[in-house]
Amino acid sequence: MSEAIVFVNGEYVPESEARISVFDRGFLFADGVYEVTSVIEGGLVDNAGHLVRLRRSLGEIGMSCPMSDEEITLMQKNLIERNQLEQGMIYLQVSRGAAPRDFAFPVDTKPSIVAFTQSRNVLSPPVVERGLTVVTLPDIRWRRRDIKTVGLLPASMAKQRAAEQGADDAWMVEDGYVTEGTSNNAYIIDREQRLITRPLSSDILPGITRKAILALAEESGMEILERSFTPEEAYQAQEAFVSSATTFVMPVVSIDGHAIGDGKPGPVVKRLRELYIDFARRTLS
Ligand code: PDD
Repeated sequence: MSEAIVFVNGEYVPESEARISVFDRGFLFADGVYEVTSVIEGGLVDNAGHLVRLRRSLGEIGMSCPMSDEEITLMQKNLIERNQLEQGMIYLQVSRGAAPRDFAFPVDTKPSIVAFTQSRNVLSPPVVERGLTVVTLPDIRWRRRDIKTVGLLPASMAKQRAAEQGADDAWMVEDGYVTEGTSNNAYIIDREQRLITRPLSSDILPGITRKAILALAEESGMEILERSFTPEEAYQAQEAFVSSATTFVMPVVSIDGHAIGDGKPGPVVKRLRELYIDFARRTLS
């Protein structure tokens, strides 16, 4: 198969020829933000929401977007086509660009913008059938988790620790309450079939998938409680799941070794996943 094409600062180049400066602040300071949009049937899922959040993240770090939404969408579609991507995701990163190393923001630096695609089974990965196992770990991230920055080392370390403990992922805990997963939002369903998830604040990323799921759950008549929950409460839950652009609605069947419900993906989470996939198809662009 021919080499994948990536987008770097206005050009489409084979992966092996893609270049970013050593002095790029994304590389030196994690001074950049990103978005991940899933792709199904060759189309972008709920991309408008991701572009709104990209602009917000950039604004919070004092940057503006170097491309318009129309230009970004066109570029994303181009990249999907060039890489013949049917299903998977598209990653988009904007960093402050290259400048002599100094902590304060440089003036008039040209931002770097990069995008690539990754093929992946998002619609029906085998793990949906068995569900994820998670362990809880301390949340050691910074205080502005609402900004989708590329500073992902704490999340990466948590995911690695989870893997070393034989788990699929980690739920991070702060002051006794679950914040979110390493790269997803966390939810439980209690015995009254209420959907419980932490409210938005700077403690968690405002998931684009989360927003859609809460609207779909509400439409389907579910009661939603946006409040924090403890790991102990989660152990007692009837069902649990995580959400993100690449996992959609993904069942969690074990937390810190406690089986959730009967230890198998449950009906409420299955239903929410179906509702989300219908929604995703309706938003394709
Ligand atoms: N991660 N919380 C965190 C910390 C995340 O990194 C993500 C997404 C989410 C879910 O957000 P959304 O529904 O908008 O994807 C929540 C992406 C998928 C990633 O880093 O690969």
